Amino acid sequence: MEEKRDFRPKLHFTAPKNWLNDPNGLVRTGDTYHLFYQHNVKEPRWGPMHWGHAVSRDLYHWEHRDVALYPDKLGMIFSGSAVLDEENVSGLGCGGRTPLLAFFTYDDGKTEFQSMAFSLDEGQTFHKTGTPLIENPGIRDFRDPKVTRVGDGWVMALAVWNQCWFYASKNLLDWEKTGEFGPLPEEIAPAGAVWECPDLYPLTGPDGETHWVLVINLQIPPEKGGVRPLYWLGQFENGTFTAQEDFCEPLDCGFDCYAATTYFNAPQRTMIAWGDNMVYAGEAPTGEWRCHMTMPRVLSLKDTPKGLRLASLPLVPEEARRKAEELEKKSGEKSGALPGKTFVLRVTGTGEGSVTLKNGRGNAFSFGVNADDAFFIDRRNTCAPFCESYSEHLMEHTAPRFFEGSWQLDAVLDGCAFEMFGDGGTRAFSVSLFPENPFDAFETAGNLSVQILPL
Ligand code: FRU
Repeated sequence: MEEKRDFRPKLHFTAPKNWLNDPNGLVRTGDTYHLFYQHNVKEPRWGPMHWGHAVSRDLYHWEHRDVALYPDKLGMIFSGSAVLDEENVSGLGCGGRTPLLAFFTYDDGKTEFQSMAFSLDEGQTFHKTGTPLIENPGIRDFRDPKVTRVGDGWVMALAVWNQCWFYASKNLLDWEKTGEFGPLPEEIAPAGAVWECPDLYPLTGPDGETHWVLVINLQIPPEKGGVRPLYWLGQFENGTFTAQEDFCEPLDCGFDCYAATTYFNAPQRTMIAWGDNMVYAGEAPTGEWRCHMTMPRVLSLKDTPKGLRLASLPLVPEEARRKAEELEKKSGEKSGALPGKTFVLRVTGTGEGSVTLKNGRGNAFSFGVNADDAFFIDRRNTCAPFCESYSEHLMEHTAPRFFEGSWQLDAVLDGCAFEMFGDGGTRAFSVSLFPENPFDAFETAGNLSVQILPL
């Protein structure tokens, strides 16, 4: 298909060509970050799933590597995670080389089970063990193993239809079920919702205490938003997760943030998510490459007037800190020109206010804070619908603020990828935008000012 407009982002990861979805096997070896990802190597649409592979030192500049895992007679290679077995508890290491273990789901179109592969050369080549690590118990949706270190053992979180199951292991090979989370009430997980891609990790709060975060991605009907990435705060004890009462928050409030997962062995809790939505991503007008990842986001816990909340902010590598200082010095504006296809934008305001990015074709994208003190995005007029499923249900979103009074929004537009972070990252939105021409100007309404810096 002909590429009509150059939507390819500069900072957001994309595959050289063809289809990409979930980030998989996020792991750091030495000072190298690996990004494996769901990849159809033949077509720019979802199909036989491989694990693509890229490496980076800073999570922004990526070097593409050979495909790491190919489908085989047992099935396609669905999503999963990777860890380093430094103590060689698996016994798969040899000659003093630390095994990198990749856990994934085999899906043959009918059934799913968990399996693994290992690498003794830091992810360049993998050997599949070919055996089920965890057999299917007779449930169609049974996938996306996320393995993490807990104490002196290992835990796996697994998405099992309308639940998350937990398993424990000492040697990373033999797994025993230890707990379940879910199902959820209908207003959170509507009928037909399928649970996918769990993540589980501890974070230290401002109170110095350890809090556990459980992330679940729900695939829900398009008229309910298509996807719902959710998180809970709670405790992980005795092999199971218990959520704080009456707590359930979106991990991201945009339409294009899914299958978020965090790095194993990174100095900070760092997350990457798929920056698209399965409902319409296959029709996105990007040409021979399709879909991108979100920027790497650093996660922390913040106190808010509504209680403790997860905050996500883009990782700012050391060299980019200078840019951040440049942004601070920029004068605030109410309207003006936009500087090219990749820029960062800081909006500071009080009360209701909006920023609209626009072009000469009459395309417009708005975001800001509404009269109810909620952050919002509105992409209704961003482009002509490029397919039926890019529908009215997936155009506007709001999320009430956790704070009161003045606000700040930090946003990045990068090709077709827009991400915005409100109130210190306690509200994040990721949306894909496909205007017919690049946005070249902005205007505002309300009591706010905008600082802009090209990247
Ligand atoms: C989520 C997902 C996973 C699955 C993978 C297949 O986007 O459906 O549950 O493992 O994508 O590509």
